[in-house]
Amino acid sequence: MMERLPGFRDFYPEPLPANEPWSCDLRNHIFAAWRETARRYGFREYDGPPLEPLELYTNKSGAEIVAQLFNFVDKGERAVSLRPEMTPTVARLVATAERAYKKPIKWFSYPQLFRYEKPQKGRLREHFQLNCDLFGEADPAADAEMVALLVDVLRVLGLTSADFVVRLSSRQAWQRFFAGRGGDPARAYKFYQVVDKIERERPEVSAEKLSALGIAMTEVQEFIRASVPEPELQAVLDNLSARGLRDFVVVDYGVIRGLAYYTGIVFEAFDRKGTFRAIAGGGRYDQLVQQVSEGRVDLPALGFGMGDVVLAELLKDRKLVPSFQGKIEVVVLVEDESLRSESLGVVQAVRESGRSVEFSLVPSKGDKQFKRALELGATRTLRVERGEESQLRVRIKDLKTREERFVAIGDVVAQL
Ligand code: HAM
Repeated sequence: MMERLPGFRDFYPEPLPANEPWSCDLRNHIFAAWRETARRYGFREYDGPPLEPLELYTNKSGAEIVAQLFNFVDKGERAVSLRPEMTPTVARLVATAERAYKKPIKWFSYPQLFRYEKPQKGRLREHFQLNCDLFGEADPAADAEMVALLVDVLRVLGLTSADFVVRLSSRQAWQRFFAGRGGDPARAYKFYQVVDKIERERPEVSAEKLSALGIAMTEVQEFIRASVPEPELQAVLDNLSARGLRDFVVVDYGVIRGLAYYTGIVFEAFDRKGTFRAIAGGGRYDQLVQQVSEGRVDLPALGFGMGDVVLAELLKDRKLVPSFQGKIEVVVLVEDESLRSESLGVVQAVRESGRSVEFSLVPSKGDKQFKRALELGATRTLRVERGEESQLRVRIKDLKTREERFVAIGDVVAQL
């Protein structure tokens, strides 16, 4: 038997087969929450190609993502890559067509992304990622808007401030920290990467890397511990307080983000217990549009990405996954094969009325068909019959009350 590639998923309809954890129903439940919340915040949907020029990432994304690219040379000798993230793509879309849109531009998408990572809990080689991004507003009010959206996406799925928290930080704060201690601006991103890894790395390793950059580990630790909000962060906190969302955020300079393009406020959402990887991450990237457009367009920008993998794990852990059933409303029983044509006419008419209908495609015993109707959770069965004067009628049975009634075959939709 051919197996799927490591780190990739099959999505089954529920009920799930043994050892197959990924449900297409749950995926759609998550997608619906993403789409619906983005709509409430006035975001419009966009998409781009799943395959992009390799260069789009080698220049923009930073070392970690570049090491994880699914890239190859295509038959036209182009160096290409499956998209590992959406941000360079959306920056390109905006740089190309921003003049056609009113500012701020608020767009969302939930692409499938590909990263050649070591498959592990919360990390696969493909995932779906909600991306919400805003272009053309430099004020921290825009940062607050994005954090509020992130919070509301999770709330809509039933998660509360007891389940998750958004850790807010600022690259500028770290940049000032680094510059204030004589750090070489050309090595600032190197420094950010050490800070980014500090929670997962052995302390000796981080301390050594920091001292190579002329920075003391103890000072970094103290800066994180104090996490005194810079003015731009205070503005975001005040804005979120006014919305009643203050409980969902903390200032935490332990977050700095790994990607190269961030320039301002950055944030990551985590479960409160700290058992899962980051649920979402994002921040401000005010220079990316300019870089992607080679200086032609200059627009401040910010946004976040939220993956489906950690989110699904968290929802399962908190028992927030609803039960999913195929919703069949009506089963048409074909017990008299001489009435199959008439029964097909009823099936078609009821489906055209918008209801979901099942019936046995081939001859089958009546009791078997009825049992199947119960298994499907149908609310009604219909059966075409010949009445006393051999006129055609339909027997409608309500499967809850077990009540039966007859209607003329032409009236069946109206009588349902
Ligand atoms: P990121 O932090 O690389 O950011 O990814 C965002 C989220 O996607 C993560 O928090 C995680 O939930 C999910 N994710 C990432 N990699 C994987 C993986 N291999 N398997 C499962 N889930 C994963 C970005 O990608 C930025 N481009 C987000 C952004 C948008 N920043 C501004 N706008």
